[in-house]
Amino acid sequence: MSDRRGAVIVTGGAGFIGSHACKALDAAGWTPVTLDNLSTGHRDAVRWGPFEKVDMRDTEHVADAISRFEASAVLHFAASAYVGESVERPDAYYDNNVGGMLSLLKACVAAGVTRFVFSSSCATYGVPATVPIDEATPQSPINPYGRTKVMGEQMLADVARQHGISYALLRYFNAAGADPDGELAERHDPETHLLPLAVRAALGGPALRVFGSDYETPDGTCIRDYIHVTDLAHGHVAALDALADRPTLALNLGSGTGYSVLQIIEAVERHTGRAVRRELAPRRPGDPAMLVADPARARAVLGFECRHSDITTIVRTAARALESQEANASIA
Ligand code: UFG
Repeated sequence: MSDRRGAVIVTGGAGFIGSHACKALDAAGWTPVTLDNLSTGHRDAVRWGPFEKVDMRDTEHVADAISRFEASAVLHFAASAYVGESVERPDAYYDNNVGGMLSLLKACVAAGVTRFVFSSSCATYGVPATVPIDEATPQSPINPYGRTKVMGEQMLADVARQHGISYALLRYFNAAGADPDGELAERHDPETHLLPLAVRAALGGPALRVFGSDYETPDGTCIRDYIHVTDLAHGHVAALDALADRPTLALNLGSGTGYSVLQIIEAVERHTGRAVRRELAPRRPGDPAMLVADPARARAVLGFECRHSDITTIVRTAARALESQEANASIA
């Protein structure tokens, strides 16, 4: 296929955001090569390129895979990503996220990678003094997960500078929704994220626990910036392209609009026509009241615009993915 643009390594390509990124890379002419240890990912989500089962901490195997596929670029998604779990098991988070990053960077240097796009997080900002959050906001994370992402950014910057690798730090807000064509879904086990849990509650699943109703927000519940996973995926492709002309990028990827937990519940009720059973619960430790992106820099630098991140599309695609999973599960 001589018209393809070449191979791109996608670590964590069997996961939620990584699999959507593979689809976007393929559409843009790249061949995504998924490297994933399948600890949380799904083999059947790898549909747009080769797959190799490997743990990021296996430096030799990762370097060998990068060389064999002749990839010059890496998108790094593979990581542990639950804030609460990171508080309970910090050693495991530093091992997988920081140890995995170090090992991957060594492999990239050995294999001559020239472009690297890193999944960072708005969790690196901690509790920001002002909202919306721009990229100049100080990074002072309030949990181990966020700290592993700041460390990952710093390690990447140091190694990349020394070895002539162009790199992008993409700090995402809340990834949500699912592939608009219905080819991919959000499948976490256990599921902890608001959108799928709210949809499940509407479809007859367990009642949603609303974590905190006494925040300093208009309705007392936390406000987040939900960005559709397909928009996020396209942001990665745009960043990869932009690295051809720029050595470094640090960008927020968010929609710029915040929704409270209650507003999300209302949107799910509007879409499904059913009540979201819920119960009020105490605040979840480590949850800032409000996280909303200032998306101006990504727009200016990448021309990045969200096309699917209106709340109706997010809820519609998340609900459809969940309904089709439940239908498949009942057939199986
Ligand atoms: N929430 C509930 N009930 C639930 C689940 C969530 O009320 O059952 C609330 C949370 O308190 C929060 C909001 O819904 O206010 C969103 O929570 P999610 O768990 O869906 O997402 P988070 O904001 O906690 O986490 C996301 C990513 C993390 C990232 C974090 C940065 O999943 O990887 O944003 O803040 F680190």
